Amino acid sequence: MPRKKVTIVGAGMTGGAMAQRLIERDICDVVLQDDPQFAGTMHFGKALDESQASSWEGYSMRISATDGWEETANSDVVIITAGAPRKPGMTREELLNGNADIVAAKVSAAAKASPKAVLIIFSNPMDAMCQVAMKASGFPRERVVGQGGALDSARYRYFVADAVGVSVRDVHGYVIGGHTDTTMVPVVSQTRIGGVPLTDLLPADQVQALVARAMRGGAEIGELYKTGSAYFAPSAATITMAEAILLDQKRLIPCSVWHQGEYGIRDVFSGTVCQLGEGGIQKTFELPLTDDERQRVVAAADATKELVKLLN
Ligand code: 2OP
Repeated sequence: MPRKKVTIVGAGMTGGAMAQRLIERDICDVVLQDDPQFAGTMHFGKALDESQASSWEGYSMRISATDGWEETANSDVVIITAGAPRKPGMTREELLNGNADIVAAKVSAAAKASPKAVLIIFSNPMDAMCQVAMKASGFPRERVVGQGGALDSARYRYFVADAVGVSVRDVHGYVIGGHTDTTMVPVVSQTRIGGVPLTDLLPADQVQALVARAMRGGAEIGELYKTGSAYFAPSAATITMAEAILLDQKRLIPCSVWHQGEYGIRDVFSGTVCQLGEGGIQKTFELPLTDDERQRVVAAADATKELVKLLN
């Protein structure tokens, strides 16, 4: 069986962290793609440095870097991190047109080299960038997926686990809707800890506080880093998605998907629970929401539709 290959476009802090997490799983070759005018020779440095770790980490797959696209050819998954990161005090939405041009150019080149790949979009504003990527690639909805919900759910689950005092592995909770500070929807009504509803375990004000913190999760990290945005949790979320696709794990992960009737929403990227496996999105799932949650999910999709209208 030929080896699987994943290309990570953009070798900044996030792309570098993703490359490390992925190569150390030893499930595919990894190619780091970047441009000399942005990255200098940093991507070559990261690939070589990580290659030299293989002796102690014990992986046999190869990690390499390139300025071009030839080496990326026939990737199974392409992860797009290219574009400016969010700076402290900035919203993800403010990155819209600057990043749209970069994402469109990168996706179009990546899609030519790897016409059967699944695209995972990380660049912000993520839901809008998914739409840019779908157009630039011409790929079907199954093969364009955004990582926001996976990351937002990781933050939410961590805060729930910490507040309740249990392992995060026993928290089942999903964040759907938009990947912005105001439009993401942590689905409190369906959050379970070992089968017990979260609302039975914590008072309402504590639940509200951790929901608010999860929604500002990216902003909080940016304020602490001061120079850029988060990359440890984002890389964990994205590489979990890539692994599910590569190994056909059929995992249920909230991600941004082109809606075709989910929650009555159509023709916009927004977060919902997806089954990820071979070929990308295999199925979507609708959670039984309260009326308030449902309204916020619809409002999130409407907000993304408005944002997309501002694309040049
Ligand atoms: C975050 O939420 C960068 O959007 C990413 O941290």
